[in-house]
Amino acid sequence: MTNLFHRNSLIDYPLALRGEGAWLIDQQGRRYLDACGGAAVSGLGHAAPAITRAIREQLDQLAYAHTSFFSSSPAEALAERLIARAPYFGSRPGSRLDRVFIVSSGSEAIEAAIKLARQVALERGQGQRTQIISRRQSYHGNTLGALAVSGNAARRKPFSEFLFPVQHVSPCYAYRGMYSGETARGYSERLLHELEATILQTGPDRVLAFFAEPVVGATLGAVAATEGYFEGVRQLCDRYEILLVLDEVMCGMGRTGTLFAYEQERIQPDMVAIAKGLGAGYQPIAALVVSEDIHNTIAQGSGAFQHGQTYVGHPVACAAAVAVLDVMQREQLVEPVAAKGALLMELLREACVDLEAVGDLRGRGLFLGIELVTNQKTKTPFDPRLRIHAQIKQRAMEIGLLCYPMGGTIDGVHGDHVLLAPPLITSDAELELIAERVATAIHRVTESVDV
Ligand SMILES: Cc1ncc(COP(=O)(O)O)c(C=O)c1O
Repeated sequence: MTNLFHRNSLIDYPLALRGEGAWLIDQQGRRYLDACGGAAVSGLGHAAPAITRAIREQLDQLAYAHTSFFSSSPAEALAERLIARAPYFGSRPGSRLDRVFIVSSGSEAIEAAIKLARQVALERGQGQRTQIISRRQSYHGNTLGALAVSGNAARRKPFSEFLFPVQHVSPCYAYRGMYSGETARGYSERLLHELEATILQTGPDRVLAFFAEPVVGATLGAVAATEGYFEGVRQLCDRYEILLVLDEVMCGMGRTGTLFAYEQERIQPDMVAIAKGLGAGYQPIAALVVSEDIHNTIAQGSGAFQHGQTYVGHPVACAAAVAVLDVMQREQLVEPVAAKGALLMELLREACVDLEAVGDLRGRGLFLGIELVTNQKTKTPFDPRLRIHAQIKQRAMEIGLLCYPMGGTIDGVHGDHVLLAPPLITSDAELELIAERVATAIHRVTESVDV
């Protein structure tokens, strides 16, 4: 008997009781190795004393002060740390990331980006800029604005009448999108031509912003762009004065081996949305980090961003995020992510070597994806009615592993993948266990499927 409106009424969820490093323990005492941090959230693992202490201390000091009356020390400290650690690849004055707008979820950070982009255009006398371009199979959140920008067909479908029009271009998804014989650079260029054609067709002076995840997470399964893609996107945005909004809600905050994911693309975004790893699950917190130019347009124009919610810049959430950033820096948790990711990838390759169902292993840092197929040569996906992803999630839990499988990888309906995003503190022995258990779960589900 429950009064809770669960995510899925057909599932009988175990009760999570406590966490311990890379493990979650349920009411029955069953232990689950958290190989996905929920949804790439728990970057520091569970029950990290430095974070819980920082939260308690902030609660004793100040729980809440509305941001239309006050600023707060934790919010100031968080903004300062993020800006100090945001790398700069620009050359144009004013293009440096300089200001942080703090909210409570990734979707809210994207909503803020949509509204801020629009308000900036209005205040720059460019009221005709109303069009957003993003990519198919992207995911930017579930609130209506963020969902409109998202390109995942299945998530959009039931609400399509409520979504404002957005142009969706092809994702940068080499496993399925790149022609045989085509180079990675050639593929990037083909996609850039498509993007430019879409900009020209829409009318370059009508395009407001381009939204993209540097490494696509939930809906594609840890897909990084091919060489030259984001560099070319930046050039197109510069050429047509389009704002480049990077959604690092899932791939940011150390997950791919650098604090900000854009660092590895060596391009300068105009806005970056961050969330999940920022609070690492200890508090619901997200942020929109924007350039000096964007902030100045508002500050020297109307003076106020016409947006805000009750819990913007919440002091306790900010104190948790400050502690997360400090622990990551003090304990140097981000530096080894690339090596740990390479080790996990190697372990997965070994564990999955005999599994025909493993079509592609990909990702960056501790953000990895396994795309599942019935045949490695033809890359044929499983029948979506089998819900292979859901079966794997269930099997994995039965053997004490939490992973994040998803269906609809190819077009919102077809295709399955498993996303892995273990805490950055996961030990090598635990990485071995993850590889072994994920291979077992995939094997047990796919061996009995008749294709
Ligand atoms: C890339 C990306 N953007 C936005 C969101 C939405 O974040 P939230 O669920 O915190 O609203 C997600 C969530 O998975 C995400 O992966």
